[in-house]
Amino acid sequence: MTGKLNIHSQDEFIMRVCSGRTTNYRDSLLLQFAIMFITLEGPEGSGKTSHIPHLVEYLREKGYHVFPTREPGGTSISEQIRDILHDLKNVEMHPHTETLLYQAARAQIVEQVIRPRLAAGEIVISDRYYDSTIAYQGYGHQQDLNEIRQLVKYATGGLVPDLTVLLDVDVKIGLKRKKQNGVEWNRMDAHEIEFYQRVRNGYLEMVKQEPERWVVVDASRDWDEVQDELRKLIIKHL
Ligand SMILES: Nc1ncnc2c1ncn2[C@@H]1O[C@H](COP(=O)(O)OP(=O)(O)OP(=O)(O)O)[C@@H](O)[C@H]1O
Ligand SMILES: [Mg+2]
Repeated sequence: MTGKLNIHSQDEFIMRVCSGRTTNYRDSLLLQFAIMFITLEGPEGSGKTSHIPHLVEYLREKGYHVFPTREPGGTSISEQIRDILHDLKNVEMHPHTETLLYQAARAQIVEQVIRPRLAAGEIVISDRYYDSTIAYQGYGHQQDLNEIRQLVKYATGGLVPDLTVLLDVDVKIGLKRKKQNGVEWNRMDAHEIEFYQRVRNGYLEMVKQEPERWVVVDASRDWDEVQDELRKLIIKHL
């Protein structure tokens, strides 16, 4: 299911329901049916977590029904898996174990939260989704990309975002921001620099492969400038 496919049939539905009614009534229905699954991706410290609450507030003020979520996490089960994935004492975790734990957490949030929220007519904005697995467990750990894609498909049941934003920033700048600002440091932050460079290059490769789904935002600029661009591009896509 993708939001866009639904929007077209709902547009027709709204046209019929609203014939002869006020513009306000039609506008409020249109906002209720602005179904869209948006994901934010990008390397460490690119700004995903700090931008999402402000985007949500902005969209809600405009009357949209928006539900933010994050990966790994977003449900009780997925948050417990997040703790295992992020725990610095789990240094011996094998990339296969890591990959499968991410899929387990993801399967739960897709079924328990994301699909029901989209079905209820909301915009879902997720801080990371399956592209993170392709970037980190695939390109970062240099595992077979086809195998990773199969696992991801199984975990998501084929739910593809309508829009994915890559917050692109030099990996050294991103890591420096996190250190400087005292952002929580976890097991996924403890790799060598080459790992994060492979992740960033992996993201850029994915954009080339599927340009219709991705928008790249230069996240090396001032935070306010980035937030402004995110607001504009999301409104444009709704
Ligand atoms: N454009 C920016 N300019 C300056 N500081 C920024 C910018 N974007 C984010 N930051 C700061 O960098 C730190 C990391 O940002 P944030 O936690 O949002 O990144 P993230 O993409 O969620 O990282 P991670 O992938 O590690 O979760 C935060 O303190 C945030 O305020
Ligand atoms: Mg974050």
